[in-house]
Amino acid sequence: MKAKEIVTLQRSLLVDTEKLLNKQVEMEGKSSAYYLSMASWCHMMGYENAAKYLYTHADEERMHMMKIFRYINEAGGHAMQPEITDIRHNFNSLREVFELILEHEIKVTKAINNIVDHAFSVKDFATFSFMQWYVTEQREEETMSRRALELFDIIGEDGVGLWTIDQELGKLHDASVQGEA
Ligand code: FEO
Repeated sequence: MKAKEIVTLQRSLLVDTEKLLNKQVEMEGKSSAYYLSMASWCHMMGYENAAKYLYTHADEERMHMMKIFRYINEAGGHAMQPEITDIRHNFNSLREVFELILEHEIKVTKAINNIVDHAFSVKDFATFSFMQWYVTEQREEETMSRRALELFDIIGEDGVGLWTIDQELGKLHDASVQGEA
């Protein structure tokens, strides 16, 4: 019997589940890098509150990555530090940044749902239960991203519009940090 087969017999985490979880580690790591890059662009452009919002969001994504990373190893698997490449550094507008965030979060939700569906189908109830935190978190993240994007339509971007949107993003950030948004 090969060493790898012995190792897989000593754990309940299936190889397929481990692969999906490692893919999610990569996705969360990329999310963190993506949002950090967006934060830098906003900061450079003078959108101070949008930058604050995104610096915090980048930290949260890193935390999401690490929770799964540790879970894989604790379940007997091998968490893989992902390669993070192809990060976009420039954006056309503040609105585009927030459109991209919502689009990205919807992709993350689909990936999370896929893991939950897989875990249930193979009766891996530990992973199924572990992933419930992410299901709730994604609902909150999508709502938050949608609220941020709505500001552009509600306030409008002309005149002091962009400045006002940036102020409102700061309030959204503070409410989120305090657990109100
Ligand atoms: Fe961890 Fe925003 O997905």
